[in-house]
Amino acid sequence: MEVVVKGTYEEMSCLAAQVVAGIVCRKPRAVLGLATGSTPLGTYKELIRMHKVEKLDFSQVVTFNLDEYVGLPEDNDQSYHYFMRENFFKHINVVRANIHIPDGNAEDLEEACAMYEIEIEEFGGIDVQILGIGSNGHIAFNEPGSSLGSRTRIKTLDERTRRDNARFFKSIAEVPKYCVTMGIGTILEARKIILLANGAGKAEAIKAAIEGPISASVPASAVQLHPDVLVIVDKAAAARLEREYPSEPHRLVR
Ligand code: PGA
Repeated sequence: MEVVVKGTYEEMSCLAAQVVAGIVCRKPRAVLGLATGSTPLGTYKELIRMHKVEKLDFSQVVTFNLDEYVGLPEDNDQSYHYFMRENFFKHINVVRANIHIPDGNAEDLEEACAMYEIEIEEFGGIDVQILGIGSNGHIAFNEPGSSLGSRTRIKTLDERTRRDNARFFKSIAEVPKYCVTMGIGTILEARKIILLANGAGKAEAIKAAIEGPISASVPASAVQLHPDVLVIVDKAAAARLEREYPSEPHRLVR
Protein backbone atom coordinates (compact mmCIF):
# COMPACT_ATOMS: atom_id res chain seq x y z
CA MET A 1 0.00 0.00 0.00
CA GLU A 2 1.37 3.36 -0.99
CA VAL A 3 0.27 6.31 1.13
CA VAL A 4 0.89 9.89 0.02
CA VAL A 5 0.07 12.90 2.19
CA LYS A 6 -0.62 16.10 0.29
CA GLY A 7 -0.81 19.57 1.79
CA THR A 8 -4.19 20.47 0.33
CA TYR A 9 -7.35 19.05 -1.16
CA GLU A 10 -6.37 20.53 -4.55
CA GLU A 11 -2.98 18.79 -4.50
CA MET A 12 -4.63 15.52 -3.51
CA SER A 13 -7.12 15.88 -6.37
CA CYS A 14 -4.46 16.77 -8.95
CA LEU A 15 -2.37 13.73 -8.09
CA ALA A 16 -5.40 11.43 -8.32
CA ALA A 17 -6.35 12.96 -11.68
CA GLN A 18 -2.78 12.55 -12.95
CA VAL A 19 -2.78 8.86 -12.12
CA VAL A 20 -6.16 8.32 -13.82
CA ALA A 21 -5.09 10.35 -16.85
CA GLY A 22 -1.89 8.32 -17.12
CA ILE A 23 -3.95 5.12 -17.27
CA VAL A 24 -6.33 6.57 -19.90
CA CYS A 25 -3.37 7.71 -22.02
CA ARG A 26 -1.76 4.28 -21.92
CA LYS A 27 -5.05 2.46 -22.46
CA PRO A 28 -7.66 4.55 -24.32
CA ARG A 29 -10.37 1.96 -23.61
CA ALA A 30 -9.61 1.97 -19.89
CA VAL A 31 -12.36 0.88 -17.53
CA LEU A 32 -12.70 3.45 -14.74
CA GLY A 33 -14.43 2.71 -11.46
CA LEU A 34 -15.94 5.96 -10.25
CA ALA A 35 -17.20 7.27 -6.93
CA THR A 36 -19.62 9.99 -5.89
CA GLY A 37 -19.52 12.26 -2.83
CA SER A 38 -17.64 15.46 -2.18
CA THR A 39 -14.19 13.82 -2.06
CA PRO A 40 -13.71 13.02 -5.78
CA LEU A 41 -15.17 16.33 -7.02
CA GLY A 42 -11.73 17.95 -7.26
CA THR A 43 -10.39 14.94 -9.16
CA TYR A 44 -13.24 15.20 -11.67
CA LYS A 45 -12.67 18.95 -11.97
CA GLU A 46 -9.00 18.38 -12.82
CA LEU A 47 -9.84 15.58 -15.30
CA ILE A 48 -12.34 17.94 -16.97
CA ARG A 49 -9.61 20.58 -17.20
CA MET A 50 -7.25 18.02 -18.72
CA HIS A 51 -9.94 17.09 -21.24
CA LYS A 52 -10.61 20.71 -22.19
CA VAL A 53 -7.07 22.06 -22.11
CA GLU A 54 -4.84 19.04 -22.73
CA LYS A 55 -7.32 17.11 -24.92
CA LEU A 56 -7.41 14.10 -22.61
CA ASP A 57 -9.66 11.77 -24.59
CA PHE A 58 -12.47 9.80 -22.93
CA SER A 59 -14.13 8.72 -26.18
CA GLN A 60 -13.34 5.03 -25.64
CA VAL A 61 -13.32 5.03 -21.85
CA VAL A 62 -15.81 2.78 -20.04
CA THR A 63 -17.07 3.70 -16.56
CA PHE A 64 -18.67 1.79 -13.71
CA ASN A 65 -19.92 3.66 -10.66
CA LEU A 66 -19.82 2.17 -7.20
CA ASP A 67 -23.33 2.70 -5.98
CA GLU A 68 -26.76 4.31 -6.18
CA TYR A 69 -29.69 4.92 -3.86
CA VAL A 70 -32.72 2.69 -4.22
CA GLY A 71 -35.90 4.43 -5.30
CA LEU A 72 -34.62 7.87 -6.29
CA PRO A 73 -35.51 8.76 -9.88
CA GLU A 74 -32.39 9.22 -12.05
CA ASP A 75 -33.22 12.90 -12.55
CA ASN A 76 -33.56 13.58 -8.81
CA ASP A 77 -30.74 15.95 -7.96
CA GLN A 78 -29.57 13.65 -5.15
CA SER A 79 -29.31 10.55 -7.30
CA TYR A 80 -25.83 9.44 -8.22
CA HIS A 81 -26.89 9.33 -11.88
CA TYR A 82 -27.56 13.06 -11.62
CA PHE A 83 -24.36 13.70 -9.66
CA MET A 84 -22.16 11.99 -12.23
CA ARG A 85 -23.83 13.67 -15.17
CA GLU A 86 -23.58 17.15 -13.67
CA ASN A 87 -20.13 16.88 -12.11
CA PHE A 88 -18.28 14.85 -14.69
CA PHE A 89 -19.89 13.15 -17.66
CA LYS A 90 -21.49 16.15 -19.34
CA HIS A 91 -18.14 17.97 -19.34
CA ILE A 92 -16.08 15.26 -21.08
CA ASN A 93 -16.44 13.19 -24.26
CA VAL A 94 -17.38 9.88 -22.64
CA VAL A 95 -19.93 7.97 -24.71
CA ARG A 96 -23.32 7.47 -23.03
CA ALA A 97 -23.38 3.75 -23.85
CA ASN A 98 -20.09 3.26 -22.00
CA ILE A 99 -21.41 4.67 -18.72
CA HIS A 100 -22.62 2.20 -16.09
CA ILE A 101 -24.24 3.14 -12.78
CA PRO A 102 -26.18 0.64 -10.65
CA ASP A 103 -29.91 0.91 -11.32
CA GLY A 104 -31.65 1.71 -8.06
CA ASN A 105 -35.02 1.59 -9.78
CA ALA A 106 -34.78 -1.82 -11.42
CA GLU A 107 -37.89 -3.95 -11.11
CA ASP A 108 -35.74 -6.87 -10.02
CA LEU A 109 -32.91 -5.31 -8.03
CA GLU A 110 -31.17 -8.60 -7.31
CA GLU A 111 -31.05 -9.51 -10.96
CA ALA A 112 -29.76 -6.01 -11.81
CA CYS A 113 -26.96 -6.47 -9.24
CA ALA A 114 -25.97 -9.80 -10.75
CA MET A 115 -26.01 -8.24 -14.24
CA TYR A 116 -23.78 -5.40 -13.04
CA GLU A 117 -21.13 -7.90 -12.00
CA ILE A 118 -21.38 -9.66 -15.36
CA GLU A 119 -21.01 -6.37 -17.23
CA ILE A 120 -17.87 -5.44 -15.31
CA GLU A 121 -16.44 -8.82 -16.24
CA GLU A 122 -17.49 -8.48 -19.89
CA PHE A 123 -15.57 -5.22 -20.15
CA GLY A 124 -12.49 -6.98 -18.81
CA GLY A 125 -12.65 -5.72 -15.23
CA ILE A 126 -11.93 -2.31 -13.73
CA ASP A 127 -8.51 -0.82 -14.44
CA VAL A 128 -8.60 1.80 -11.72
CA GLN A 129 -11.16 2.29 -8.96
CA ILE A 130 -11.51 5.65 -7.26
CA LEU A 131 -12.75 5.36 -3.68
CA GLY A 132 -13.78 7.80 -0.98
CA ILE A 133 -14.17 6.70 2.61
CA GLY A 134 -17.08 7.28 4.95
CA SER A 135 -16.48 8.72 8.41
CA ASN A 136 -17.55 5.26 9.63
CA GLY A 137 -14.93 3.58 7.43
CA HIS A 138 -17.28 2.51 4.66
CA ILE A 139 -16.24 2.21 1.02
CA ALA A 140 -19.00 2.67 -1.53
CA PHE A 141 -22.05 1.79 0.56
CA ASN A 142 -20.35 -1.18 2.20
CA GLU A 143 -21.14 -0.24 5.74
CA PRO A 144 -19.32 -1.60 8.82
CA GLY A 145 -20.01 -5.31 9.09
CA SER A 146 -20.13 -5.85 5.32
CA SER A 147 -18.52 -9.07 4.24
CA LEU A 148 -15.02 -8.53 2.86
CA GLY A 149 -15.99 -10.90 0.04
CA SER A 150 -19.28 -9.18 -0.79
CA ARG A 151 -20.48 -8.56 -4.36
CA THR A 152 -22.86 -6.00 -5.87
CA ARG A 153 -26.07 -6.15 -3.85
CA ILE A 154 -28.82 -4.27 -2.03
CA LYS A 155 -27.78 -2.80 1.32
CA THR A 156 -29.43 -0.92 4.16
CA LEU A 157 -27.70 2.39 4.81
CA ASP A 158 -26.05 2.89 8.15
CA GLU A 159 -27.71 5.56 10.31
CA ARG A 160 -24.41 7.46 10.47
CA THR A 161 -24.20 7.50 6.66
CA ARG A 162 -27.80 8.71 6.44
CA ARG A 163 -26.96 11.48 8.90
CA ASP A 164 -23.77 12.37 6.97
CA ASN A 165 -25.72 12.54 3.72
CA ALA A 166 -28.74 14.34 5.18
CA ARG A 167 -26.95 17.63 4.44
CA PHE A 168 -27.81 17.12 0.79
CA PHE A 169 -31.51 16.46 1.42
CA LYS A 170 -34.26 18.64 2.91
CA SER A 171 -34.36 16.41 5.99
CA ILE A 172 -32.99 13.07 7.16
CA ALA A 173 -36.42 11.55 6.51
CA GLU A 174 -35.82 12.07 2.79
CA VAL A 175 -32.50 10.20 2.74
CA PRO A 176 -33.20 6.79 1.18
CA LYS A 177 -32.87 3.79 3.47
CA TYR A 178 -31.55 1.37 0.87
CA CYS A 179 -28.93 1.39 -1.81
CA VAL A 180 -27.33 -0.81 -4.42
CA THR A 181 -23.56 -1.04 -4.09
CA MET A 182 -20.61 -2.88 -5.52
CA GLY A 183 -19.31 -5.26 -2.87
CA ILE A 184 -15.92 -5.18 -1.21
CA GLY A 185 -14.99 -8.31 -3.17
CA THR A 186 -15.99 -6.52 -6.39
CA ILE A 187 -13.88 -3.49 -5.49
CA LEU A 188 -10.84 -5.59 -4.61
CA GLU A 189 -10.86 -7.07 -8.12
CA ALA A 190 -10.02 -3.69 -9.67
CA ARG A 191 -6.46 -3.74 -10.99
CA LYS A 192 -5.61 -0.54 -9.14
CA ILE A 193 -7.33 1.32 -6.31
CA ILE A 194 -6.98 5.01 -5.46
CA LEU A 195 -8.40 5.77 -2.01
CA LEU A 196 -8.94 9.47 -1.34
CA ALA A 197 -9.73 11.30 1.88
CA ASN A 198 -9.64 14.91 2.94
CA GLY A 199 -10.63 16.85 6.02
CA ALA A 200 -10.42 16.21 9.75
CA GLY A 201 -13.71 14.32 9.70
CA LYS A 202 -11.96 11.45 7.91
CA ALA A 203 -8.83 11.29 10.10
CA GLU A 204 -10.13 8.55 12.39
CA ALA A 205 -11.46 6.42 9.54
CA ILE A 206 -8.19 6.76 7.60
CA LYS A 207 -6.13 5.75 10.60
CA ALA A 208 -8.26 2.67 11.15
CA ALA A 209 -8.23 1.78 7.44
CA ILE A 210 -4.48 2.16 6.91
CA GLU A 211 -2.85 1.43 10.23
CA GLY A 212 -5.49 -0.69 11.93
CA PRO A 213 -6.19 -4.40 11.49
CA ILE A 214 -8.15 -5.66 8.49
CA SER A 215 -11.69 -5.93 9.72
CA ALA A 216 -15.24 -5.99 8.41
CA SER A 217 -15.89 -3.32 11.06
CA VAL A 218 -13.77 -0.96 8.95
CA PRO A 219 -14.62 -1.90 5.36
CA ALA A 220 -11.91 0.41 3.95
CA SER A 221 -9.26 -1.65 5.75
CA ALA A 222 -9.91 -4.33 3.12
CA VAL A 223 -7.75 -2.34 0.69
CA GLN A 224 -4.76 -3.60 2.69
CA LEU A 225 -5.39 -6.92 0.90
CA HIS A 226 -4.97 -5.34 -2.53
CA PRO A 227 -1.58 -5.44 -4.27
CA ASP A 228 -1.82 -2.01 -5.95
CA VAL A 229 -3.37 0.67 -3.76
CA LEU A 230 -2.54 4.35 -3.77
CA VAL A 231 -3.96 6.21 -0.77
CA ILE A 232 -3.88 9.99 -1.19
CA VAL A 233 -4.93 12.10 1.76
CA ASP A 234 -4.64 15.74 2.69
CA LYS A 235 -2.91 16.87 5.90
CA ALA A 236 -6.14 17.06 7.89
CA ALA A 237 -7.18 13.51 7.03
CA ALA A 238 -3.63 12.33 7.83
CA ALA A 239 -3.62 13.95 11.26
CA ARG A 240 -4.10 10.71 13.24
CA LEU A 241 -1.62 8.58 11.28
CA GLU A 242 1.32 7.39 13.35
CA ARG A 243 3.75 6.37 10.63
CA GLU A 244 5.55 8.88 8.41
CA TYR A 245 4.43 9.08 4.79
CA PRO A 246 5.92 10.89 1.80
CA SER A 247 4.28 13.78 -0.05
CA GLU A 248 5.06 12.29 -3.46
CA PRO A 249 4.40 8.81 -4.85
CA HIS A 250 7.55 6.72 -5.23
CA ARG A 251 6.80 5.94 -8.86
CA LEU A 252 6.40 8.33 -11.73
CA VAL A 253 2.65 8.56 -12.25
CA ARG A 254 2.54 9.68 -15.88
P1 PGA B 1 -17.79 12.18 0.89
O1 PGA B 1 -18.31 10.69 1.05
O2 PGA B 1 -16.80 12.13 -0.25
O3 PGA B 1 -18.98 12.99 0.56
O4 PGA B 1 -17.14 12.54 2.19
C1 PGA B 1 -17.38 9.64 1.00
C2 PGA B 1 -18.10 8.34 1.20
O5 PGA B 1 -19.13 8.33 1.91
O6 PGA B 1 -17.64 7.32 0.68
